[in-house]
Amino acid sequence: MPALHSCPVVSNEQVTAQVFRLTVRAPRLATEAAPGQFVNVKVWEGPVPLWRRPFSVYSVDRDAGLVGLLFAVRGTGTRLLAGATPGDTLDVLGPLGRAFAPPPEERQPLLVAGGLGVAPVHFLAQEMSAQGLHPMVLLGARDAAALCALDDLARLPVVLHLATEDGSRGFKGPVTELLATVLTDFHHNGVAVYACGPVGMLREVTRICTAKRVWGQICLETLMACGIGACMGCAVPTHATSAGPNYKLVCKDGPVFDVRELDLER
Ligand SMILES: Cc1cc2nc3c(=O)[nH]c(=O)nc-3n(C[C@H](O)[C@H](O)[C@H](O)COP(=O)(O)OP(=O)(O)OC[C@H]3O[C@@H](n4cnc5c(N)ncnc54)[C@H](O)[C@@H]3O)c2cc1C
Ligand code: FES
Repeated sequence: MPALHSCPVVSNEQVTAQVFRLTVRAPRLATEAAPGQFVNVKVWEGPVPLWRRPFSVYSVDRDAGLVGLLFAVRGTGTRLLAGATPGDTLDVLGPLGRAFAPPPEERQPLLVAGGLGVAPVHFLAQEMSAQGLHPMVLLGARDAAALCALDDLARLPVVLHLATEDGSRGFKGPVTELLATVLTDFHHNGVAVYACGPVGMLREVTRICTAKRVWGQICLETLMACGIGACMGCAVPTHATSAGPNYKLVCKDGPVFDVRELDLER
């Protein structure tokens, strides 16, 4: 059940020029959060910015009661969050949203992350590893300097493949091209794809999974306001029916969706 948590900041490290890894003490959240779910953080004590800011759960340490977030500085809210230090306390609402589903029986989990989409993918890899599954992780970014979470992923028993658009590390090209290549090694019934990243990347993952009839789930990180299903600000179109187009809310119905649910082409 989502709840408000008063979370002391344990650490806030800068991992690249724009990206920070924030760890807070939140024992109940650490116990309850599942991969794909997010938290809504109040980044300032005053009225501005008005809305909380959503972040996927990046990691949990249930024994120590710690929750990690990985975030990029984009605007006012994340700039404020980058300034959080041990001694500060953050007001965090969560866990929110629909989590990733377990892979159907016997399927090889194939986790695909683009840019900061690595946040929920890392938590998923952490959980699957703890359950004795052996996920393969495809991690993509613009260039080698923008690859995040490599150190944390390297500590997990996962098979990690990298892709950079400029070819400075790993496969040269978008991570979706690497996905299409890797999928040729699997029968469509043998694999479960989980992806998070920019919408363009998720559109391509959807196309690939649909064309190959592969089971897949995508995690959308669109713009949000209320984060709890009240403002309709995060509606995304589903496939049209005879009654016309339908919509789902990323904050309430997602952020995780089956690849067959949404119409990202619209
Ligand atoms: C479910 C969910 C999970 C998310 N998880 C993460 C995460 O793990 N790590 C992370 O770094 N970010 C994540 N985001 C995005 C994050 O919420 C935004 O980057 C943040 O709210 C920006 O706040 P701001 O005040 O700094 O920027 P603002 O001042 O509000 O906006 C600055 C710029 O960033 C753009 N922006 C704002 N929100 C988003 C967004 N959701 N996607 C793309 N561009 C955006 C705005 O259009 C604007 O151009 C997630 C979003 C959602 C909905
Ligand atoms: S953000 Fe308000 S309904 Fe989803």
